[in-house]
Amino acid sequence: MIRIARVSGAPVIDRRIYGQFAEHLGRCVYEGLWVGEGSAIPHRNGLRTDVIQALRHIKVPLVRWPGGCFADEYHWLKGVGSERQPMVNTHWGGVVESNEFGTHEYFELLHQLDAEAYINGNVGSGTVAEMHDWIEYMTLDATAPMAELRRRHGREQPWRVEFFGVGNESWGCGGNMLPLHYANQYRQFQTYVRQYGEHPISKIACGANSDDYEWTEVLMARAAGHMDGLSLHYYTLPTGEWDVKGSALDFTPHEWHETLRQARRMDELITRHGGIMDRHDPAKRVGLIVDEWGTWYDVEKGTNPGFLYQQSTLRDAAVAAITLNIFHRHADRVRMANIAQMVNVLQAMILTDGSRMLTTPTYHVFDLYTDHQDAEYVDMPAGSFGAEIDATASFKDGAYAVSLTNTALDREVAVEFELPGRIEEVLRAQVLGAASATAHNTFDDPEAVALADLPVTVDGARARLVLPPHAVATVRLSVA
Ligand code: AHR
Repeated sequence: MIRIARVSGAPVIDRRIYGQFAEHLGRCVYEGLWVGEGSAIPHRNGLRTDVIQALRHIKVPLVRWPGGCFADEYHWLKGVGSERQPMVNTHWGGVVESNEFGTHEYFELLHQLDAEAYINGNVGSGTVAEMHDWIEYMTLDATAPMAELRRRHGREQPWRVEFFGVGNESWGCGGNMLPLHYANQYRQFQTYVRQYGEHPISKIACGANSDDYEWTEVLMARAAGHMDGLSLHYYTLPTGEWDVKGSALDFTPHEWHETLRQARRMDELITRHGGIMDRHDPAKRVGLIVDEWGTWYDVEKGTNPGFLYQQSTLRDAAVAAITLNIFHRHADRVRMANIAQMVNVLQAMILTDGSRMLTTPTYHVFDLYTDHQDAEYVDMPAGSFGAEIDATASFKDGAYAVSLTNTALDREVAVEFELPGRIEEVLRAQVLGAASATAHNTFDDPEAVALADLPVTVDGARARLVLPPHAVATVRLSVA
């Protein structure tokens, strides 16, 4: 019998760890979100209504934009006003980027989603002046050249920018810098991310690639005082290797378990990067921002290799749940995360095919986990429900939410737990499962993997349920 109870001093699970990432890559922004004013696909101000409605349902707290690698070749002035200047998207397929979707369209997206801004600035090929001007354009409410330009483009009031990233993967696609060089660049560029208005901009420094602990050490030693967050990028590759990633849909039981093992590496990465941060910042003022995470497979056959389009199965659902559980366990340091990416790219929430769209198993996990947003973390020792169950719990508004993932491929598991009071009401009991772990949604069968009701037996303070194989579930119970 597992007892689940609040502990005093527990951290709050910041809703921002459910953040999304939308890069100018493949069909994420164009088609996935933006269809333009002249489109026959139903839209509001150019943003497709079906996708926005689905994303609102999972309570997207913020969207990171415009990249990714694209951020370090993005010149924002080409994407405002009536004369947009096309460019070549050299990282992602070498296609022509029209710049039709720019700053104004991004803030319209946030407005429709009721989400916060996380903009990633250009250090790799940009200038300090360009970054300075973008901040002025977006956030200054005074008579100054860029603020006036914004007004001429139809926006009187400044917008609110909650987070601003200074460079992306500056150790790689964002400039191939060494850590000390980037630390100096960061210090200089962030100086001109001016704080105009009453809402401060939180500044995020480019952090490490996976287990590059030296990068974190140098950044924290040389620049911690100038940052509010330090990022971390880690992708789950089934083999752990970039050259043979494997198929999204066709995997063996061995590959299922290996993929989940690779996903669990996130715990070690956060623990070790967090340990370095603790030495330099014991008060945990600087957040660890995991602003790129998720599965990365070989692209779907017949698609542009530069577009990173892949399908999503219950394996991805399990990776999402396991990773979110890890973020919960580290809620005292991990303040934001952004799954890569929101639509049509990598571990997406949504896939589109022209006017058609579907939600993925990963989307349903984000739905199941909305109950944990801004809830108090409730600690449970790892493996509380046995080695095959990965679990997390939280408390909010008089109710406990417990999410459980059965990583066994061939066995259901009976689960029983006790809460510190009589259970009054089952507010949610839903499971995401299917006959096969490779099950996924297609445009012809978009509901093949969907949430279903999960029977729960309640007896006083105790709850009992049976978790099917390779399934993810959430139960939310109010207590007296
Ligand atoms: O998410 C796809 C790419 O992965 C991003 O552009 C880059 O930052 C990372 O390497």
